[in-house]
Amino acid sequence: MATSIVLFGPPGAGKGTQAGKIVATTGKPQISTGDMLRAALTAGTPLGLAAKQFMDAGALVPDDVIIGLIEERLTLPDAVNGVLFDGFPRTIAQAEALSSIAEVEVVIAIEVPDERIVERICGRFTCGQCGAVFHDSFNPTSVDGVCDSCGSSEMKRRADDNEETVRTRLEAYHTQTAPLSDWYGERGLFVAVDGDQGIDHVGDAILIALDSL
Ligand code: AP5
Ligand code: MG
Ligand code: ZN
Repeated sequence: MATSIVLFGPPGAGKGTQAGKIVATTGKPQISTGDMLRAALTAGTPLGLAAKQFMDAGALVPDDVIIGLIEERLTLPDAVNGVLFDGFPRTIAQAEALSSIAEVEVVIAIEVPDERIVERICGRFTCGQCGAVFHDSFNPTSVDGVCDSCGSSEMKRRADDNEETVRTRLEAYHTQTAPLSDWYGERGLFVAVDGDQGIDHVGDAILIALDSL
C-alpha cells in the first residue's frame, strides 16, 4: 500500500510553509484539513458553516466531521500514491481512524516553543490565489503586496489569526494534539525537527529526516 506522511506541530509551526517543498520532493499531494475547512466556509457549504463556530473560537472541529472529510478526500485519484497530511490527525481518535484507512510512513513534528507562536501567527498573510504563506517580518513578499509565487495581489489574513484565538488554539494543541507524539512514538513513526530556526533550515532538516527513512 502507498504510504503517507504526517506534518505535525502547533499552530504557526510552519506546516503550511514547509508543505510545498515536501510535495515537490515526494510528489504526494498536500491535504490540509484547515485549508479544506476554510474552503468549505468560503463556499458556504453546511459543513463549512458548522465548522465556523469552532474555528473562530480556536477549538477543534469534532472528530466525526474531520474524519468524514478525510475519508472523502482520500477517494480522489491523486491520493492513490499516498498524501502529505497537514494539520491532521489532531486527536487520538483521528489517528485511530486514519490507521484503518491509510498507512502512515512517518510523522514529522515541527517543534516551536509557545513564546514564538504568537508573533508568527499575528504577522501571517497568505496569497488568495495560490495559498503561498508569508509573514510581515520573517517572510515578506519581495514586492509589497504581490505574491512571489504567482504574482497575484490578492492577499488574505485569517479570521482566527489574532492573539486571543491563538492562545486557545495552543491550549487545544497541548491538551488534545500533543499526546499524539507519544502515540506515534510508541509505533516508531515520530521524528522531531527543530522549527525554531530559519525557514530554509527547517526545510533542510525535514528533507534530511525524509531521506533517512
Ligand atoms: P489549521 O489551518 O490547521 O491551523 P493550525 O494548525 O493552527 O496551523 P496554522 O495553519 O496556523 O500554522 P502552520 O503550522 O501551517 O504555520 P504556517 O506555515 O502558516 O487549522 C485551523 C482550524 O481548523 C483549527 O483551529 C481547527 O478549528 C480546525 N481544524 C483544522 N484541522 C483540524 C483537525 N484535524 N481536527 C479538528 N479541527 C481542525 O506559518 C505561520 C507563520 O509563520 C507564517 O506567517 C510563516 O511565514 C511564518 N513562519 C513559518 N516558518 C517560519 C520560521 N521557520 N521562522 C519564522 N517564521 C516562520
Ligand atoms: Mg497551516
Ligand atoms: Zn500566489
